[in-house]
Amino acid sequence: MLNYEMIFENAKNWTKEAGENLRESLKQAIEVEFKTSASDLVTKKDREIEQLFAQKINEIYPSHMILGEEGTVASQDYVFAESEVWVIDPIDGTTNFVNQKMNFAISVAFYDKGQPVIGIIYDPIKDELFSALKGHGAYLNDERIESLKACKLQEALISVNSLWTIPNEKIEEKKLFPIVENARGIRYIGSAALEIAWIAVGRLDAYIDFRLSPWDIGAGIVILRELGGEATTLEGHEIDMTNTSTTLFSRPGLSAEIRSYLA
Ligand code: IPD
Ligand code: CA
Ligand code: CA
Ligand code: CA
Repeated sequence: MLNYEMIFENAKNWTKEAGENLRESLKQAIEVEFKTSASDLVTKKDREIEQLFAQKINEIYPSHMILGEEGTVASQDYVFAESEVWVIDPIDGTTNFVNQKMNFAISVAFYDKGQPVIGIIYDPIKDELFSALKGHGAYLNDERIESLKACKLQEALISVNSLWTIPNEKIEEKKLFPIVENARGIRYIGSAALEIAWIAVGRLDAYIDFRLSPWDIGAGIVILRELGGEATTLEGHEIDMTNTSTTLFSRPGLSAEIRSYLA
């Protein structure tokens, strides 16, 4: 039987340590490389932080699998729904890390045989640690976060990936216009993990994105659902944690109102 509390405590400690490492690293120049294009960045720190997690996990939980964005972990052959998997984004919002030196996060989740169990999102600049262990409440640092209440689109701040402003293969952009028109306001931070964490604490009310990966959202899903929030694809289906997907995160009830415009 796995001791989830112990995994949760370890994961939080490692995440804070990694955050301290990133905070310190900003005192020096950041070496930037391009991945698939000039707007798809990676730094030495993305790889290093993922490696630090991998070392600790391999040492303490050698049978656990690691699904990380930078793929620094030797290829593992496993079935997500049958394994204990750590889903890690070492820096979510690398562009913000490089250009803004703020508004980025470390996202760490633990899934047991496909079930979301632990979610941790850490903003090291604000020193804000959002966390949840399924069934034990969600926290911002040591403060328990209250369950989310419903709200209407007209009172809502919606975060939408800026790709909505250009033709997009996932959704006809015109379909988003009534949401933009009817919401109280539109925002975009540039870190999927933070957009979800901010819904958890009421700074945003919903977040729409068109192509997110498991490591962007693994932790956010646990935290948001613990508070009664909703996490689905744009069509309202279950998110597949082994693939990229469109995503809609929100307070309870708001997803349905948003989806009614997208139909
Ligand atoms: C990205 C950020 C961004 C989202 C992108 C992600 P990365 O993650 O979360 O906000 O819109 O789709 O890839 O590459 O900075 O970890
Ligand atoms: Ca990336
Ligand atoms: Ca990411
Ligand atoms: Ca990343």
